[in-house]
Amino acid sequence: MLTKPKGTYDILPNEARIWAKLETVIRKVCNLANYEEIRTPIFEAYETFHRNEDDSSDMVTKETYDFLDRGDRKMTLRPEGTAGCVRAFIENKLYVLNKVTKLFYLGPMFRYERPQKGRYRQFMQFGLEAYGPKSPLLDVDIISTAVMLLKALGFMKVRVRINTLGDKESRNNYRNVLVDYFSKNIDLLCSDCKQRLEKNPLRILDCKIDKENVILKNAPKISDYLNDDSKTHFNKVLEELDKINIKYVVDPHLVRGLDYYSDTVFEIEYESDVLGNQNVLCAGGRYNDLVKDLGGPDIPGVGLAFGMDRLLLALANENINIIKPKMLHAYLITLGNDCSDYGLKLIYDLRLAGITCDMSYTKASLKAQFKEADNNNSLFTLILGEDELNKQTINVKNNQTKEQVTLNISELKGYLIKNLTQNSCHNCGGNCHEKSTN
Ligand code: HAM
Repeated sequence: MLTKPKGTYDILPNEARIWAKLETVIRKVCNLANYEEIRTPIFEAYETFHRNEDDSSDMVTKETYDFLDRGDRKMTLRPEGTAGCVRAFIENKLYVLNKVTKLFYLGPMFRYERPQKGRYRQFMQFGLEAYGPKSPLLDVDIISTAVMLLKALGFMKVRVRINTLGDKESRNNYRNVLVDYFSKNIDLLCSDCKQRLEKNPLRILDCKIDKENVILKNAPKISDYLNDDSKTHFNKVLEELDKINIKYVVDPHLVRGLDYYSDTVFEIEYESDVLGNQNVLCAGGRYNDLVKDLGGPDIPGVGLAFGMDRLLLALANENINIIKPKMLHAYLITLGNDCSDYGLKLIYDLRLAGITCDMSYTKASLKAQFKEADNNNSLFTLILGEDELNKQTINVKNNQTKEQVTLNISELKGYLIKNLTQNSCHNCGGNCHEKSTN
C-alpha cells in the first residue's frame, strides 16, 4: 500500500472545513489591517534561500529540499515565505519610494526536519511582510495584527517574547564581546554551540541544550551594546505596544534561527506544555538588509509567520471550535426510479438558487435515506414518491420544527428560500440566501 511521505499528513474533509475557516478568519484580519495577498511559487531558484556561504541557520544548511529540474536548474522547495516574497517584491517592482507595501500569504512550506507533534516536513504558514521606511510603528503593526488574529480566533493563552538584535553596528559590537566571552568558556558549551561560536555566536544564546547552562545565563546582554539608533527604535516599539495594551516579555536571549534579522525580533508562544519545544505559534522580526541583499533597492522589511498547523493544534487543545456543524439546507428522499431521475433535476435547480442540497444516488431504502438526511444535518427533508410526482407535489419536512407541508413543486424553491432566510440556518444565520432573494 502506498503511504504518505514521512512528516506529511492528509487533511480529511472534517479537518479541511476547519482549515478553510481559519483561512477565512486570516483573510478578514488581513483585510482589517490592510495587508494584501500575494501568491508566490512553491519552488524558487536555489539561490533565493541559499544566499551566502556564511548563513549558519539550520533551515538553510540542513533542511531545504533542493533538486535539479529536468533542465539542470537548481531549485528549492520553499522552506519559508519571506525570501520568495522579497524576490517577488523586487521582480514585480512593488516598491514606491517612501511608501509602505503590506503583503500576506498562506501556503505550504517544506523543511527536512525530524517530524514530531507540531513539526512536519510539509506544513502551512500564514505570513505578513511589510516593506518601507524603517518605522518602529510598522513593527507594532505586524505584532498587533498577529494578536488580532489570535483574538479573532478566541485564543489568548499566549506569551509575546520580544528582543532586539540592534542594527549592524550594534550587532557587530555585541558579536565581538560574545565571541570573547564564549571563547573563554568554550569547554563548557555543547558541540553545536562550539560550531556556532565561529559562524553565528548569537545563536548560542537560544541553544535548547545549553538552556540552563550558567555560562549562557551570565552572558553579556545586547541591551548593553546597542547604539543610540537601535535603542531608540526598540524603546519606541515597546512604548507603542504598551499604549495599545499588548503584553510582552523582553527576553534578551531571543535571537531567532534565521540569519536575516536585525533590530526587533519576537515570538508568540502557546502557554502550555502539550506542544513541547514546538510551542512557538508565530515568529518574526525586522530584516533591514534582505531586500538589498537579494538585489533590490535599500528598503527595510518586517514580518512574521504563523505555523497554522500548530495554531490548530493549540486551538483543539483549548477546546476552541471555530466551525459550526456541517449541514445541508435540504436533503431529497425519493421513492422509485422516476422520482430519483426527476429529483436530480430538482436539486440541480435548487443548488442554482443557492440552496445546499443533496440526495441518495443509490436505490437505498426509505429508512436509509432518512438516515442520510440526518447524517447530513439537513434543515429540510424533501420527500418525493410516485403519487406526488404524478400530482407535481412534494412533501417538505422542517427538521427543526418537525412541521410537514405538501407543496406544489413549482412553489418549493420560493418556500425554502423564504424559510431559510426567516428561520436562520445554523451555518449563516439566514444570510446565505440574501443573493437569491434579492
Ligand atoms: P520560522 O520561525 O522559521 O520563521 O517559522 C515561523 C513559524 O512557522 C514557527 O514559529 C512555527 O510556528 C512554524 N513552523 C516552522 N517550522 C515548522 C515545521 N517544521 N512544522 C510546523 N510548523 C513549523 C519564518 O519562517 C520566517 N519566514 C518568519 C518571518 C516572516 N520573519 C519575517 N517575516
